Amino acid sequence: MGRGLFLVFEGGDASGKSTQARRVAELRDAHFTFEPGDTPLGVELRRWVLDAATPMSPVTEALLMLADRSHHVRTVIEPTLAEGRSVVSDRYFASTLAYQGYGRGVDLAQLRAATELAIGSCRPDLTILIDLALDVAVERRTFDAQDRFEAADLDFHQRVREGYLAIADSFGDAWFVVDGAKSEEEVAAQIDKRLAALPWSHA
Ligand code: TYD
Repeated sequence: MGRGLFLVFEGGDASGKSTQARRVAELRDAHFTFEPGDTPLGVELRRWVLDAATPMSPVTEALLMLADRSHHVRTVIEPTLAEGRSVVSDRYFASTLAYQGYGRGVDLAQLRAATELAIGSCRPDLTILIDLALDVAVERRTFDAQDRFEAADLDFHQRVREGYLAIADSFGDAWFVVDGAKSEEEVAAQIDKRLAALPWSHA
């Protein structure tokens, strides 16, 4: 049996990416997973890294995200792909580049090097970015002041959005950008059209 396909959904708060990621996983009988926090160790790391009441430096924040990812890759993503099952992950390495790099200002070259260490050769076959203008996101989202990222200011979220678009640009065909302001059905239709072009039968 061949290796499964690895799909990743990225985007900001209220972009609708989690809904689409779960839908695609179900449709394609793929394993759904997410970052941070989809392993027993990850649950502990997530608790610390999202807790707005625990101050930490941007580099510490990045390293906790990378620790979660490294463990997630080795214990969930790689073994599942190796079994021949596809994996859909809600967030992956670009979240760290966008949030800790573009958002918090951690050095991007150093973050990329640390990402290599965390993920090794485990690269997505396709990353889908659900892009959403900040004013639409603000209208849609329910704000949780206990969450370190939801509590961050709008400039931070604007940098994250711009970061995602720059990353998408740099990866060319390995990324697919969808306009998250469209209806859920329209976003789903665009995603499904792009997914139909992937080599599922070899997976
Ligand atoms: P979560 O509650 O899972 O929300 P979302 O639906 O937005 O994914 O929160 C995850 C938060 O962690 C989200 O605000 C983005 C942030 N994050 C980073 O800052 N860096 C990372 O590497 C990852 C994976 C997530």
